[in-house]
Amino acid sequence: MNIILLGPPGAGKGTQAQRLMERHGMRQLSTGDMLRAAVKAQTPVGLQAKAVMERGELVSDEIVSALIGDGLDAMGPDTGAIFDGYPRTEAQAGSLDGILAARGRSLDHVIELAVDEDALVERITGRYTCANCGKGYHDKFEQPRVAGTCDKCGSTEFKRRPDDNEETVRTRMAEYRAKTAPILPIYESRGIISRVDGMADMDAVTAAIEGLIAD
Ligand code: AP5
Ligand code: MG
Repeated sequence: MNIILLGPPGAGKGTQAQRLMERHGMRQLSTGDMLRAAVKAQTPVGLQAKAVMERGELVSDEIVSALIGDGLDAMGPDTGAIFDGYPRTEAQAGSLDGILAARGRSLDHVIELAVDEDALVERITGRYTCANCGKGYHDKFEQPRVAGTCDKCGSTEFKRRPDDNEETVRTRMAEYRAKTAPILPIYESRGIISRVDGMADMDAVTAAIEGLIAD
């Protein structure tokens, strides 16, 4: 099973990918997470990507497609892949077809998380993660059970993304509208895209996705 989660910044791609990983043994391939790891490790890719990401613009197609190929090669051939934040341009959609075909894989579902853009700024500016295990939280929508302590690993250190400020979020949304939304018709013409209401609560979104991938 290979699925793409598509949607603007803050739509819930990462949240839902983590849940699918935990419940269905699939692997999340998030180009955003891979790029943030490269920035942190100060690799050549990270050094190139850092300023672009801080502006909210898109990193080059070549860089992200290479990360996806490497990510798939590091997985077992029978493990399902959840593409989170990739593809984001028509060129990346074309590359993904080739990357999958070369590995004997094909796309089963493209799931668009449909959201109201006005709500996204609140979602993104309230978001933070555990600095130790990466579990995601939100000031209003998903707080730790014990304030200040991670539910999953017990760490008391949390962090926020440098691109999660209102100005950068607006640029990220504009990039989505201009470069990513135009890839939806590619998957519509193949009849593999489904729309899920990303404004519903998190459990309802998970249930809707699970209903689709069970078909
Ligand atoms: P990336 O990391 O992919 O960021 P993004 O697409 O902007 O998406 P986000 O991670 O912000 O949102 P999400 O949909 O994962 O939402 P989440 O689940 O966290 O990319 C970052 C940057 O890297 C890009 O700007 C670009 O520079 C570069 N990049 C990455 N991939 C690239 C590519 N392919 N090509 C070129 N450049 C690339 O949810 C958000 C918050 O809302 C959370 O706090 C969550 O708790 C809450 N929430 C989630 N669902 C719900 C719900 N149903 N109800 C209430 N709250 C909810
Ligand atoms: Mg994400």
